[in-house]
Amino acid sequence: MTQTLTLRRPDDWHLHLRDGAMLQAVLPETARHFARAIIMPNLVPPVVTAADATAYRDRILAALPAGMDFTPLMTLYLTEGTDPADVAAAHEAGLITALKLYPAGATTNSHGGVRDFDKVRGVLELMAERGIPLCIHGEVTTPEVDIFDREAVFIDTVLDPLRRTTPGLRVVMEHITTKQGVEYARAGGADLAATITTHHLIINRNHILVGGIKPHYYCLPVAKREEHRLALRAAATSGDARFFLGTDSAPHPDRLKEHACGCAGCFTATNTMSLLAHVFEEDGALGRLEAFASLNGPAFYRLPPNEARITMTKHAAPVTFPASIPAGDETVTVFDPGYPVHWAVD
Ligand code: DOR
Ligand code: ZN
Repeated sequence: MTQTLTLRRPDDWHLHLRDGAMLQAVLPETARHFARAIIMPNLVPPVVTAADATAYRDRILAALPAGMDFTPLMTLYLTEGTDPADVAAAHEAGLITALKLYPAGATTNSHGGVRDFDKVRGVLELMAERGIPLCIHGEVTTPEVDIFDREAVFIDTVLDPLRRTTPGLRVVMEHITTKQGVEYARAGGADLAATITTHHLIINRNHILVGGIKPHYYCLPVAKREEHRLALRAAATSGDARFFLGTDSAPHPDRLKEHACGCAGCFTATNTMSLLAHVFEEDGALGRLEAFASLNGPAFYRLPPNEARITMTKHAAPVTFPASIPAGDETVTVFDPGYPVHWAVD
């Protein structure tokens, strides 16, 4: 018997689209299935001001193929120089949906991030007043802290103090990778939520390192031990409204992934919905995929869920995806879960 699944059109609450030829290449991969996405501002140079966000939004819309329906939800990259008045105006105009906090040096193009939180106090207070969410890359960058501990240490030493000193600040813990992240998000009130990527539901650190180094499984925060992956699976498939999809689909040219100093990022835009249906079915939670991918995100962001529906079908034969997509003169490898998947969006 053919199995089908109908759900409201999903959104991606954490996405990297880049610019130029890469934007052209990856945008249709997201817009094919997703109605909206929170667009990460870590371009070179980053999207810092309302003027930057306007220009970037226009480039995204210009790159959108005719007939595709997709709304980019813009973010500003929070820096120590961010002007609260610029943020207020951009939010009032409906231009931006959130701000993004990268601790300086945490990941790709994050050197302009925040070092001294006192310097962004004015912006954070404005955001708390107006209910503008802060999307946080939650890793400390202190060289002494082991890379596998950076998320847990961030929660204790940065996130929790930050939330206590800014009551009412609405925070999205981006791409959580640990059971500590799950527990902290669960214990938070209505002002706290967490996104989970597709790939962190599928791989643990062994997938990156056992049997040879797999650069296409390397991302930040790096995948952790199996117990953490299982905690993420339990959170994502639970239906709990505090957890929702943010793919962190992060394209890099294969040339720079397969490199002595390979870039961080997994490109999952192409097959995310198929992979999620597989994961949720495996955990007996297909009925809760819609909450994770289509309902919990808009509820936190105080936006209506999409009215359009997508239908997915489980096929007898495995569904095939391109191993990579072309992007200008480069190629970008599509995330490979390492097992066949049978679900496809119709
Ligand atoms: O793996 C990642 N890639 N993590 C990030 O935080 C940034 C992203 C990117 O921009 O490539
Ligand atoms: Zn990201």
